[in-house]
Amino acid sequence: MSAGQRENTTDELGERVIVSELELMEKAQAELSPARFEHTKGVVEAAERLARRFGVDVTKARVAAWIHDIAREWPQERLAQVAEQVEIPAGFALIPAILHGPIAAHLAAEWFDIDDENIQNAVRYHTTGRVGMSDLEKVVFLADAIERGRNYPGVEKIRALAEQDLNLALAESFDNTILYLVQTHQPIFPLTVMARNELWEQVTATQASETHHLNHE
Ligand SMILES: [Fe+2]
Ligand SMILES: [Fe+2]
Repeated sequence: MSAGQRENTTDELGERVIVSELELMEKAQAELSPARFEHTKGVVEAAERLARRFGVDVTKARVAAWIHDIAREWPQERLAQVAEQVEIPAGFALIPAILHGPIAAHLAAEWFDIDDENIQNAVRYHTTGRVGMSDLEKVVFLADAIERGRNYPGVEKIRALAEQDLNLALAESFDNTILYLVQTHQPIFPLTVMARNELWEQVTATQASETHHLNHE
């Protein structure tokens, strides 16, 4: 893609000038039902807010948010077909509900020439999380969980935590999701459990060091 072919944003991602957000929005609208498109717009807005709050690249957060659910409504056969052709992280193909993340990450490159690893990972792991998430990945995961249209038991608590503490809000969000999966007898992706354990470990370590500082002031 040359710069002249499309209207581009002024932000540069690595070497490459990125596709315009207008194009991402139109593609998302074309691929999604009106309700899911509304959700995606909510995630873009929430991702921008969180990115600003926690010092993450706002453009990357918005771009990842536009793309994250782009394959969410594909029939299972279409997802499986693409999954055969691309590299899908281990285990993803076994749980249909999480496959749309890795597929959308592939489409980011295929459809929009976005080869930024961080954006791709934010899209790839937006449903599962993973160990060693970047701040961008955390922001997109959390934005997906708390965008304005979300309404489930516990969302207000996660929203409130997201005003202050990215890791704590995310750890709470993982527990909320895992509890829900247990209660509805759905499979839990092992990587999600590992990500959840790591986050609580980080939260606990941070809280312990803060307490330590307070006690020694
Ligand atoms: Fe999703
Ligand atoms: Fe989503």
